[in-house]
Amino acid sequence: FNVPAPVNEPVKAYAPGSPERKELQAMLAELRAKQIDVPMYIGSEEVRTGNTRAMSPPHDHQHILGHFHEGDASHVEQAINAALGAKEAWENLEWEQRAAIFLKAAELIAGPYRAKINAATMLGQSKNAMQAEIDSACEFIDFLRFNVKYMTEIYAQQPPVSGGGVWNRVEQRPLEGFVFALTPFNFTAIAGNLPTSAAMMGNTIVWKPAYTQIYSAQVLMEVFKEAGVPDGVINLIYVDGPVAGEVIFKHPDFAGIHFTGSTGVFQHIWKTIGENIHRYKSYPRIVGETGGKDFVLAHKSADAKAVAVGLVRGAFEYQGQKCSAASRAYIPSNLWEDVKKYMLADLADIKMGGTEDFTNFVNAVIDEKSFDKIAKYIDNAKATPGVEIIAGGNYDKSKGYFIEPTVILTQDPMYTTMCEEIFGPVLTIYVYHEEHFETVLELVDQTSPYALTGAVFSQDRYAIELATQKLRNAAGNFYINDKPTGAVVGQQPFGGARASGTNDKAGSMINLLRWVSPRTIKETF
Ligand code: SER
Repeated sequence: FNVPAPVNEPVKAYAPGSPERKELQAMLAELRAKQIDVPMYIGSEEVRTGNTRAMSPPHDHQHILGHFHEGDASHVEQAINAALGAKEAWENLEWEQRAAIFLKAAELIAGPYRAKINAATMLGQSKNAMQAEIDSACEFIDFLRFNVKYMTEIYAQQPPVSGGGVWNRVEQRPLEGFVFALTPFNFTAIAGNLPTSAAMMGNTIVWKPAYTQIYSAQVLMEVFKEAGVPDGVINLIYVDGPVAGEVIFKHPDFAGIHFTGSTGVFQHIWKTIGENIHRYKSYPRIVGETGGKDFVLAHKSADAKAVAVGLVRGAFEYQGQKCSAASRAYIPSNLWEDVKKYMLADLADIKMGGTEDFTNFVNAVIDEKSFDKIAKYIDNAKATPGVEIIAGGNYDKSKGYFIEPTVILTQDPMYTTMCEEIFGPVLTIYVYHEEHFETVLELVDQTSPYALTGAVFSQDRYAIELATQKLRNAAGNFYINDKPTGAVVGQQPFGGARASGTNDKAGSMINLLRWVSPRTIKETF
């Protein structure tokens, strides 16, 4: 099959004075100055209910960026009907045509929409320019390009054995019904990938983004329309979760869910699907990426500076709101003073503030609910004997939801913040006796129910080998001498098992295979 060999989209540096920085700054100013009105997109309609809600930058919550129109159960029904109505034409389109549409979407983001999608992610989700660039531009472009490649490989698979007057073949049918994409705030790329990967394989989609990501979701929708995604193939709705769930999970044509979000919500959805299983035509596909309590483990042979850099970047980029973020660390006693020195020096250089000032590394957390939850963990740590806050610990929500990068030191490896997912800029460190590496491996494995990402730092090959074996099930993405975040599509397929998800690796053929239901055809001549 003749599709372009994908290459990862190069990350632009946005250096001071560069044309890309000027363009992005102009776009930020333009978007800030206007108030947009965001409809739902159902079939060919832009639906404005009049029930509007304001959108604000998390780092400047009194500023209004615009409003979106919230829908109700009737809009969920309409979106399902639009998806079902568009299905036949879409699934019968030559797969090359579907590929072309999504490759065009990638080019639109790489070129004319790059500044807009990055600016929308910076303003709407409080990402700094570099974090927006690696997410809403590069990662999403990579998802589109690499998924087209995996899709091609699926359609090009070798047929089964035939002969003796018989021809056997396998047809990769789309699922029968519609697919529900329920997407998170923390990566614009994931919000884009969940509907498009299923759509690529011939499915039609009801897409419900997190309310805190609608500002950039509508830019993605603009791109999809311009790229030629037909009406009804991806329907974008803003409806309260339980209201949407009530309609979707009782619908006989519900064929699958592509989810990224919290473990609690995913488990609730799984149970709801189980309760309604008798209603569906087929057993639905359930594909989800959920929480994490991602670790950094240093061996006594590790390079202290590399560990410190891994901790600061792994824990605090995007305010720790990556499901892959480092949030618990195990540091050997012989390295601790050096790791601490380098880490505190790096943290002292970090600036916090709004995303429009490109020198700010840390911005605001996503909303007040998140802010309050994170602040509570910090307050508890302040009040717990034997637990010490060695960096940060301050927060302020008067202008934006700002929380300082906070490092907690504990002597109890089972202390709450070593075990529970916080989803914010809080890192907890446990210093272990340098000779107790093997015991610590057990702790790392058993402390949390999650198994998304983890990193081991070591210069000792035996320790690397031991950690790789003993932590086999503790992380779906395992890093050796690197931070546990920043998986690149096409290079490190992403996802975890245990309470972290179904591990259907975002940006892989495994994921795309979940969106087809093969038919075997035997023809006798
Ligand atoms: N893919 C992201 C990372 O690796 C998390 O979703 O950081």
